[in-house]
Amino acid sequence: MNKDFIKIGHRGAKGYIAENTIESFKRAIEIGVDAIEIDVQLCKTGELIVFHDNRVDRLSNGSGMVCELDFDYLSSLDVGNGSIIPTLEETLDFIDNRLLINIELKGMGTSKATYDIVDFYIRNRNWDKGNFLISSFNHIELKAYKKLDSEMKIGVLLSCIPTDYALIAEKMGAYSINLSIEFISQEFIDDAHKRGLLVLVYTVNSTDDILRLKSMGVDGIFSDFPDLL
Ligand code: G3P
Ligand code: CA
Repeated sequence: MNKDFIKIGHRGAKGYIAENTIESFKRAIEIGVDAIEIDVQLCKTGELIVFHDNRVDRLSNGSGMVCELDFDYLSSLDVGNGSIIPTLEETLDFIDNRLLINIELKGMGTSKATYDIVDFYIRNRNWDKGNFLISSFNHIELKAYKKLDSEMKIGVLLSCIPTDYALIAEKMGAYSINLSIEFISQEFIDDAHKRGLLVLVYTVNSTDDILRLKSMGVDGIFSDFPDLL
């Protein structure tokens, strides 16, 4: 992607419609985002589903831990207005290489499972590798992904200010630092840029914050209301 500023729909268009659903991705695309962020995790039967929480209770009419639930049960749940939990494959089929997808790996084992699917879509479904960005707070999984595909763009998720600022991401050969708005500073942005890294900031839902971050020179913002970007 060669843009000055990347507008990222957080879990699609979470502020308007049930998050991490095909309907939410559709809304984000209609709004005109440059990228969509999704969360993936493994369920008990091994499928990679697009869902944020460890438990299904808050976001659906079901109950239990995703890692202890079968795919058949998970796919029967209503996550809002009749929407269902999509798989990673269903999400990729819907987005169909139209824009950048940021896949956030949630939990152990997600790097290999995601790699197998992403690599298949690059080889067999005409997806550009440049349209993928893999991120995680779990830097072990992120490192494991980079080992499987050294050319894949990775985003190091942080919700802190490391003592060496962006060094951790440079060492991992990352494309971006995906930093919580709570920890953004000009020093951090400048340090990341010096190391050749983009700075993408989550989750930003106020116009004042968006203007402030843009004036600080961030490279992209995740928003639940991506039309604000
Ligand atoms: O990828 C940015 C952001 O989504 C990370 O936090 O908890 O919303 O997945 P979370
Ligand atoms: Ca996320």
